[in-house]
Amino acid sequence: MYAHHYWGLTVNGSLNTISIDDLTVAQANQELARLADILGEANLDYHTADAPKYDDATYDALKRRNVAIELRFPDLKRDDSPTDLVGAAPSDGFQKVTHSRRMLSLGNAFSEGDVFEFDARIRKFLGLSDNDGLDYTAEPKIDGLSLSLRYEDGELVQAATRGDGEVGENVTLNARTIGDIPHRIENAPSIFEVRGEVYMSTQDFAALNNRQFDADAKPFANPRNAAAGSLRQLDSAITKSRPLRFFAYAWGEVSSSFAPTQTGAMAQLKKLGFQVNVLTKICKTPLDLVEHYKTIEERRATLGYDIDGVVYKVDNLELQKRLGFRSTTPRWAIAHKFPAELAWTRLNDIEIQVGRTGALSPVARLTPVTVGGVVVSNATLHNEGYIAGRAGDGEIIREGRDIRVGDLVQVYRAGDVIPKIKDVDISKRDANAAPFSFPEACPECGSSAVRDDGDVVRRCTGGLICPAQATERLKHFVGRAAFDIDGLGAKQVEQFYSDGWISTPADIFTLKYRFGTGLQQLENREGWGKKSAEKLFSAIEDKRLISLRRLLFALGIRHVGDASAGLIAGHYSSWAALELALTSACIGQGPQWDALLSIDGVGAVMATSLITAFHNEAERESIDRLVAHLNVQDAVQIENTDSPVAGKVVVFTGTMDRMSRAEAKARAEALGAKVSGSISAKTDLLIAGPGAGSKATKAISLGIETIDEDAWLVLIDGL
Ligand code: IVH
Repeated sequence: MYAHHYWGLTVNGSLNTISIDDLTVAQANQELARLADILGEANLDYHTADAPKYDDATYDALKRRNVAIELRFPDLKRDDSPTDLVGAAPSDGFQKVTHSRRMLSLGNAFSEGDVFEFDARIRKFLGLSDNDGLDYTAEPKIDGLSLSLRYEDGELVQAATRGDGEVGENVTLNARTIGDIPHRIENAPSIFEVRGEVYMSTQDFAALNNRQFDADAKPFANPRNAAAGSLRQLDSAITKSRPLRFFAYAWGEVSSSFAPTQTGAMAQLKKLGFQVNVLTKICKTPLDLVEHYKTIEERRATLGYDIDGVVYKVDNLELQKRLGFRSTTPRWAIAHKFPAELAWTRLNDIEIQVGRTGALSPVARLTPVTVGGVVVSNATLHNEGYIAGRAGDGEIIREGRDIRVGDLVQVYRAGDVIPKIKDVDISKRDANAAPFSFPEACPECGSSAVRDDGDVVRRCTGGLICPAQATERLKHFVGRAAFDIDGLGAKQVEQFYSDGWISTPADIFTLKYRFGTGLQQLENREGWGKKSAEKLFSAIEDKRLISLRRLLFALGIRHVGDASAGLIAGHYSSWAALELALTSACIGQGPQWDALLSIDGVGAVMATSLITAFHNEAERESIDRLVAHLNVQDAVQIENTDSPVAGKVVVFTGTMDRMSRAEAKARAEALGAKVSGSISAKTDLLIAGPGAGSKATKAISLGIETIDEDAWLVLIDGL
C-alpha cells in the first residue's frame, strides 16, 4: 500500500524509482541526500504549514525507503539522516505540548476500608446520607501509559503523553500508527480531547521480546515498558512496527457536553470508534465496588493485558464537576490497587545514601530477583528504626524481627515505586550475623548525623559542605518539575560538581562566563562537542525566565513539594512578595505565620521549614545569588473575571445547610477566592451560618462584610 503511494508520487519533479537492490553506491548517495532534503522539509512543513504537503502514508514510505537504503549502505548514512529525526521534532526529543486541561493522576485505595472511606468522603462532600443513591463505575486500571488525543472538527490533530501532567510530549506521528486510534471521528464536539491508555497485549509483548532476542537487542522488562518505549520512538516507523493498543476512559477539553454520565460518555466514545473496556460496571455501593474488584482480580491472569487495579468513578458527571479536584487528583475517582507481588531473596549488603536534605537512607543490595516482571536488585530500608523492627511511631513491626546483612528477605513492588522489604526469615539467619549498626556520622563528609526529636530519619549536619547533599540538591534543581534544563541531567551534574565547575545552583548560570570562552572549555571535555555545548548553554539561558512555582520547588526546601510550591506561589504571586513574607515571618506566631498557615495545604511543619530556610545564612546567600540571575515570572492568578469573589479572601464559619463546608470551600477556590481558616484584617468576606461564634464577633469588630449562606449562593450562583 505504501509502495503504491510512493511509486505514484512525484516530488520535486521526479523521484528515483530504482529498486533499492539495484542502486549503485553513487545513486544511493544521491538518493539519501535527496531524501534528507525532502523529509527535512516535510518535517518542518508539518509543524509550520496548515496543510502539510505529504500525507502520512507518503511520508512513511519515503522514510522507510531512506531506512532501507541505509541498511544496504550503512557507510553512506548521513549525519543529518532523517532516520534520526523525530517526526517533526528536534532529534534530541519530542516537542513539548501544554495540556489544555491538566492530566491528573489518581489517589490510591489499598484495602476495602479505603474504598468505604472513599464513598464516605464523597457523601460528606456532597451532603448525601448513606441512604441516598449514588452510582459509581468500576473498570480495570490498565498498566500502560496515558495519552491525550486532540480532535478538532473530527480530525486527530495532536497526541500528547502525560509528561508532568501540565506539559507532555508531542507524539502525534507515532499515535497515528496505532490501529485503535481513529484518525477521524464523525459527529463529535468540534474540540474533543479523548484520553486513555496506550498498552501492549501480553501476547504481543512476548512476541516483541522474541524479536528483540533474535536481533540481539535488549528485551523489555514488562508490557508497560515496551509500550512506553515503543510510543516514544523518534522514528514513527518503529512505533508502527510495534503492536500498540489504546483504551479510552476519560477526556480533557470538550467544546460541548456530550453525555450526562461516565457510562454515557463511554458509550459515546465507543460509538465514535474507540475501544472501551467491557469490564466496566455500574456499582451502587462500596460493597458492589469491592465485589467487582474481586471479579476483575480473578480474571486478571487471563485478560491478555496487564492491569494493576480497578478504578472507581462517580458516574454522574454533574456530581463529578461538583466534587472537582485536589491539587493532583480528582475527588470523584480512586484506583483500588491489587496487592503487590512478593519474592524472597538474599540481602547482601546495606548501603547508606545521603539525600538532598541530608537524610541518611539505608538501601538494601539484593541478589537480583524478579518481582512482577521486573528484576529487583535494590530496595529501600527506609530508616534505622525500620531495620531494627520499629515503625516511625515506635510501634513494633515484623513482630520485632530486625534485618541483618546476609538475611533472606521478602521484597515487593507496589505500582511503579521503589521496591521495599516486607519481611525477613530469621530461621535461615547465620548464627554469626550481627545486628546492623547504623552510622552516626555522614558516610560522605564525616559530619555528625543526628536525629531530631520526633524525626525518624538521621540527617547529616554538613549542609552544603557535604558533597552528597550539594549534588543531590543540584540534581533536584535541574529536575523535571524544577528547572528542567535540557542536557544537564544527574550525570552531568555529578561530573561538573566533582570537577569544581558548579557547587550551587547560581553557578549553573555563570558557567558560560566564568571560563571566558565557556564553549571551548566544555567542548574539549569528553562526551561534549561544539553542538552539545552550544545547546546546553542555550538551554541554560532559556531557563533564566522561570515561573515562581518552579523556582520555589527547585530550591529543594524540605517538605515543599511541587504541588505545595504551586499553592504557595499562587498565594504570594511574586518572588518579591514571597521573599518579603518569609524573611519577616516568625515561626509559630505573627501575621506572616498566620498568612502562611491560611494557605490550603500548608501546615506548621512546612511553614517552619520555609521560614527556617529563608533565615539560614548559607541558604539565604545561595538563594540570593541564584535569584540575581533570574527573571522570575509571577504566578498566574486564576482568571475568572466574571467571578465576584476572584482574589478575595473569604472565611466560612458556622453550619451550612445547602452544601458541605468542604464543597463550599472547593467552589469558592474554583471561583478564584482564597479560603482562610481565620479572620484577619485581610479577610474580605465572612460567610456565617447558624452557630457562628467568635469569628463573627471578630469580623464585626474589624468591619468585615458578613453574609449568610443564602446570600453567598446568590452571590456566586449566577455563574
Ligand atoms: S481515569 C482524572 N481510568 O492510571 C484521572 N485512569 O494512576 C483520569 N489509568 O494517569 C484517569 N487505567 O494513566 C483512569 N481506567 C482508567 C485507567 C486509568 C489506567 C491510569 C492513568 C492515570 C493513572 C493514575
